[in-house]
Amino acid sequence: MARHSSTFTSLLRTLLLTASLALLSPTLIAPAQAGPSGPNQCIAFDASWNLLAFNFDSKDSLIPSTAFSSSSSSAVTTTDITKPSGRPPFDQTSSPPLCYTSQFTNAIYVLNADAADPSSVYIFDATASSWSKQQTTLPDVSATTLRGYDVNGGFQTILDRDTNVFYALTRGNLLMSLDMGLLKAANATALTWNEVQKPVWNSNPESEGSGSGLEGYEFPTMALAQNHVHFVGGVPGLKEGEAKIFVIHYSYLQPSPQSYPSNSGSGAAFPTSHGRTASFFRDDSVQTQFAYIPDDGSAAYVVDVTANSTTPLPGPPAKDAYAVYAASPSVLVQLASEGGKLSYVVYDQEKHQGASGWKSVDGWKGAIVTTTRPVACELSPGSRSQQWLESLGW
Ligand SMILES: *[C@@H]1O[C@H](CO)[C@@H](O)[C@H](O)[C@H]1NC(C)=O
Ligand SMILES: *[C@@H]1O[C@H](CO)[C@@H](O)[C@H](O)[C@H]1NC(C)=O
Repeated sequence: MARHSSTFTSLLRTLLLTASLALLSPTLIAPAQAGPSGPNQCIAFDASWNLLAFNFDSKDSLIPSTAFSSSSSSAVTTTDITKPSGRPPFDQTSSPPLCYTSQFTNAIYVLNADAADPSSVYIFDATASSWSKQQTTLPDVSATTLRGYDVNGGFQTILDRDTNVFYALTRGNLLMSLDMGLLKAANATALTWNEVQKPVWNSNPESEGSGSGLEGYEFPTMALAQNHVHFVGGVPGLKEGEAKIFVIHYSYLQPSPQSYPSNSGSGAAFPTSHGRTASFFRDDSVQTQFAYIPDDGSAAYVVDVTANSTTPLPGPPAKDAYAVYAASPSVLVQLASEGGKLSYVVYDQEKHQGASGWKSVDGWKGAIVTTTRPVACELSPGSRSQQWLESLGW
């Protein structure tokens, strides 16, 4: 069943993409516009939980954490943090840029933002507000399909918070890792993607060792929680509410699926269809809960991997298979694939309780209304960033 729906999804994607491309005249396909394949902006929280919004009308902005409250707030003041030097061109047209928060370094790692250098990882140092470009070396073996970071081509990855290592799959095939060390600025030495293993997706332990994973899980849905990579959204053999787990510290793919039933009694378990994810952060410990939003946007599900439970939330306002998501400790944000529209829903990790609806960010109009202030003004006293600045004598 999962295999069929996954094949169907990929067929649908191909059809939609072909149809949309056929409808667009070449003059309409400009790098600065959102395409049918996803937004050309990306969003990620910094370590103080301000939202960094990249490439809205070619500008980057900081939306303060206070913009994402449960009560209605007055219009927010965003900050223009556009730094042209070393900034990625954001000119990949086939799939969206991918942004990841490195919590310990307070940096954002940006993949798939440079058509001329598709394997590069751009680093935005959120403390210094500066860019640099990290070269990476893709595997040169023919066994792997990893050639770039195109999610519409089947690439997917998560950044492990504790180790600062990316784990990636391409077309469900080979698990690869990229160790970012503690980089908040690029190293002169290229970093190398390493092979971890060829996963076996079949949940039947007796058939362990068989199955390439290439069938039925070509567009992986990956999430991170508690140093475990969670594979959902159509893993062959898995039922609703189940995840396949890769244990990072032991480099071990658990043969049996883990079950995360709904904690709302009558509520349905999360489906087996492809979707997007975002892990909720914590101020000073590992993530233990992640949001999974199926492509149809009918609902959002928050999976708690320590309680083994799932909390359903209302579906996001844009029913958008190409939307992308980011989460702080208390907020899940959707960036729609068209128009740079941002929406958020508040969620309480301790109570497993979400707000009854999503809201738009008051006052956010893309990059049009921003003021310029030094980013250091946003830092709270005693924060890691503040300490770092003080150590530099600022
Ligand atoms: C950065 O480069 C230096 C020397 O070129 C190397 O020793 C170090 O391990 C690199 N750091 C990372 C995180 O790769
Ligand atoms: C969650 O499931 C795992 C594996 O089945 C089990 O080891 C753990 O004790 C469970 N946790 C809770 C809170 O039930």
